[in-house]
Amino acid sequence: MLAEPHFKRRPCVWKMLMAAMCVALLSGLQAQDLPRQVSIILLGATGDLARKYLWQGLFHLYLEEVGKGHHFRFHGTALTSTEQGQEVIAKVLESLSCPGDMASGHCAELKAQFQQLSEYRQLKTPEDYVALSKDIEAQVEHEGLRETGRIFYLSVPPFAYVDIARNINSSCRPGPGAWLRVVLEKPFGHDLHSAQQLATELGSFFQEEEMYRVDHYLGKQVVAQILPFRDQNRAALDGLWNRHHVERVEIVMKETLDAEGRTSFYEEYGVIRDVLQNHLTEVLTLVAMELPVNVSSPESVLQHKLQAFQALRSLQRHSAVLGQYQAYSGQVRRELQKPDSFHSLTPTFAGILVHIDNLRWEGVPFILMSGKALDERVSYVRILFKNQAFCVQSEKHWVAAQSHCLPRQIIFYIGHGELGSPAVLVSRNLFQPALPSASWKEVEGRPGLHLFGLPLSDYYAYSPVREQDAYSLLISHIFHCRKDSFVTTENLLASWVFWTPLLDSLAHEVPRFYPGGAENGQLLDFEFSGGHLSFSQPLPEQLVPGPDSAPLPSDFQVLRAKYRESPLISAWPEELIARLAGDIEAAAVRAVRRFGKFHLALSGGSSPVALFQQLATGHYSFPWAHTHLWLVDERCVPLWDPESNFQGLQTHLLQHVRVPHYNVHPMPVHRRQRLCAEEDQGAQAYAEEISALVTNGSFDLVLLGMGTDGHTASLFPQSPAGLDGEQLVVLTTSPSSPHRRMSLSLPLINRARKVAVLVMGRMKREIAMLVSRVGRDPKKWPISGVLPDSGQLVWYMDYDAFLG
Ligand code: BG6
Repeated sequence: MLAEPHFKRRPCVWKMLMAAMCVALLSGLQAQDLPRQVSIILLGATGDLARKYLWQGLFHLYLEEVGKGHHFRFHGTALTSTEQGQEVIAKVLESLSCPGDMASGHCAELKAQFQQLSEYRQLKTPEDYVALSKDIEAQVEHEGLRETGRIFYLSVPPFAYVDIARNINSSCRPGPGAWLRVVLEKPFGHDLHSAQQLATELGSFFQEEEMYRVDHYLGKQVVAQILPFRDQNRAALDGLWNRHHVERVEIVMKETLDAEGRTSFYEEYGVIRDVLQNHLTEVLTLVAMELPVNVSSPESVLQHKLQAFQALRSLQRHSAVLGQYQAYSGQVRRELQKPDSFHSLTPTFAGILVHIDNLRWEGVPFILMSGKALDERVSYVRILFKNQAFCVQSEKHWVAAQSHCLPRQIIFYIGHGELGSPAVLVSRNLFQPALPSASWKEVEGRPGLHLFGLPLSDYYAYSPVREQDAYSLLISHIFHCRKDSFVTTENLLASWVFWTPLLDSLAHEVPRFYPGGAENGQLLDFEFSGGHLSFSQPLPEQLVPGPDSAPLPSDFQVLRAKYRESPLISAWPEELIARLAGDIEAAAVRAVRRFGKFHLALSGGSSPVALFQQLATGHYSFPWAHTHLWLVDERCVPLWDPESNFQGLQTHLLQHVRVPHYNVHPMPVHRRQRLCAEEDQGAQAYAEEISALVTNGSFDLVLLGMGTDGHTASLFPQSPAGLDGEQLVVLTTSPSSPHRRMSLSLPLINRARKVAVLVMGRMKREIAMLVSRVGRDPKKWPISGVLPDSGQLVWYMDYDAFLG
């Protein structure tokens, strides 16, 4: 039997306890009834962003919410002394403005109230945080209020985040029952690693739901309207929003301003980190994601965004074109006191081609572009639809709403540009869109104004009834806990996962220099084909910044020399790839003419990707129908695994050309549901297939690479297999994962009529130097064993690998 509780046996204790509980309950109820206060603490309150946008955003929040039973206190804080800070804040508060439709008397009254409720204080030491918290508690109690929450808005450089976070967490959290929201401004790291580090540090102080990472593009009215627009127009868009109908998507942010005055920040970040990794990527996911059933559920939106990230195809070096306005390096030298010889490689302009590997978007190019010092300031997303119509009537009879021959497009006009205001535009020949009529109105006619090839009158065009700046919108969303307008940790890291490899591969890329403004002419125009982006105009004469040994423009032509006693072709990467592709095509044409077929063995990895793309897009006379494709080596992973060499070949070449499938010979690494098991005799089977189809086992052309340790194919210094002997195909072990490999043996490679070794990138510089000096020692450097018995060996090296 359970013992009776102690207090039940003693009635007076029981009564006292009941009375105490009633008092507590009552006072709890009373506390619930007390008017509620939210305290907002703006850190960095005297800074640029705060002065330009944040105070105005806070005032806007006050105007929106004050009549709805909320009390507010605004604490502007910074490191600046109290006196100086107060002076700055007083000026900022004086300059605040009300919406145009508010009576001036009412505005003045509310502004005076807001000024009364705002204070400045220095927030520097841990004690300052303790004092702030105490003061808030005392004020709340004194005024008979109940604190429902605190917002800390960190408008400070990211290096200050961790200290501030520690102080907030240890001494400035609001009392029980009240919430905490901490708002953070970008940059959130410099790459995946640093973003992860910062996220972990912040995660040790705050819960995920307490953090609001701002991307101010998510507060732009038109960007915030993308998902609601897709939702409200589901019926019309369902059949259109996919690869069958969309020709391409352009996500663009052009600026006329340059980076002067900000070069210390810009030099570290550059255009990709500054705006593509965040603003344009956020917009991309809003356009590309599968539409959640409930677009106002932050959880569903996040989940769909993350799925969109997963479907993004990895970017290659050739997915990007980079530029830098000519005055930039001079500005950096001045602002950062660099020597006269200093040249920056930081891009101020970038065009990126993104592909999304899912059923909806397969094959649709998404072009992301942004730059400083361009001819106009404008941001937009343009969804251009395919047009397969042929109109018989002459153009003068075309009617915007009916003609299928006019361009069909949806434009989320984010701001500025010729239209001068945010708008959503839908070609009249598509459908009449639905937008919330209380907040969006039809744009008034502007005779003579053309946008994206059409007069404005050819669009259904809507703009916000009341324009609101991004920060005001976001501050309101923070207050209302609308987390879908902010960047979560997962979302942030997914974006860095996508961008970091490209940033790494572009670290030494020389951008194209442009004069700036209208003078840019067509210099920065670019075009894409087969996953490959390039400037439309050839490289104009320009000096290449870099070490003294860097070739000058006069050296731009292909350099001919010898390397290990064999011919060497060296050039800038694009020319080199073009040259190699041309040589392979010539060999193919010759072989088909003589023998009726061409046996080509290709290596995997990243170097040949550009070559595959070049072959896929630029070589229409290539005799693919008579070409047999073999693999030089393979990783022991299933053929559909992204790490599989065959998968790379499939993605970058095979799916773009017409090689009969019975001419394609993947290595049999995956047999009987096992990977490279000796008993399955995959290597022997491949050797037999080669012997059966390739006369004397002599491939017409074998394409090899060279690893930084001197390996070639999958013949590694640490793994003796395949360096000599009878075996044509061998299983080997790689020092890096996946360790198990299958490879053509050195003797088989050396039977080829021609062997081309492609070596690209600065990373290969050291091994290229070393191998140039060593003799034939395949056990140490398998590549040094490549010397065709009677065929020809040609080295193809780019300048980075050859000259450093
Ligand atoms: C900021 C970038 O995030 O966005 C700036 O750091 C850029 O370099 C700015 O100028 C552009 O924003 P908006 O709102 O003017 O398009």
